[in-house]
Amino acid sequence: MKNIVVLVSGGGTNLQALIDAQNRGEIKNGKITCVISSNPNAYALERAKNNGIDTSVIKRKDYDAFEDYDIALTNLIKSKNADLVVLAGFMTILGKIVIKSFENRIINIHPSLIPSFCGEGFYGLHVHESALARGVKVTGATAHFVNEVCDGGPIIIQKAVEIKNGDTPEILQKRVMEQAEWKILPKAVSLFCDDKIKVIGSKTEILN
Ligand code: GAR
Repeated sequence: MKNIVVLVSGGGTNLQALIDAQNRGEIKNGKITCVISSNPNAYALERAKNNGIDTSVIKRKDYDAFEDYDIALTNLIKSKNADLVVLAGFMTILGKIVIKSFENRIINIHPSLIPSFCGEGFYGLHVHESALARGVKVTGATAHFVNEVCDGGPIIIQKAVEIKNGDTPEILQKRVMEQAEWKILPKAVSLFCDDKIKVIGSKTEILN
């Protein structure tokens, strides 16, 4: 059984999707053992507590030097014996030390079809604002491993979502979450826990 540590910053609907999938028995070889938030007021923390999951808070601004924050976050995750780290709406950039310590063991959910609308500055609602401003007809979500390039790690699963007339960033965000994020993140986590994701260079292969 793999220990899953989920990093959050906000509402935590992706965390909820993971908890629901776990409760439905869809993550057979993993268990969410801890939720770590960058924000002490994140509603995601309530979701964790309501489900009896251990919680911690670590704030970037409590550390002067970025490297000290990077070390503290790494040590916190290690202290929870994480086999897998999931970024479920975690809005603080990860440092080199934590990324290296958990190479190919950190999964992020991003609300677009990478490589569109990703990289620095593309997070949360901004991603959907950019997609609508560009006039694309299809967007979606991507579950991928995290490496040192922002949103540049090996892609695990993607799912497309249609853009409709009259969409606002908020309406589109909700559709992308419902139709893509809340489905592919638990699926990617389940595949990881079943040892079904093989990383080959900058790509992945899903094993049968
Ligand atoms: C989600 O849409 C997630 O994909 C996005 O933030 C939202 C968090 O919502 N993440 C990023 O933009 C990361 N670059 P949630 O707290 O309800 O899961």
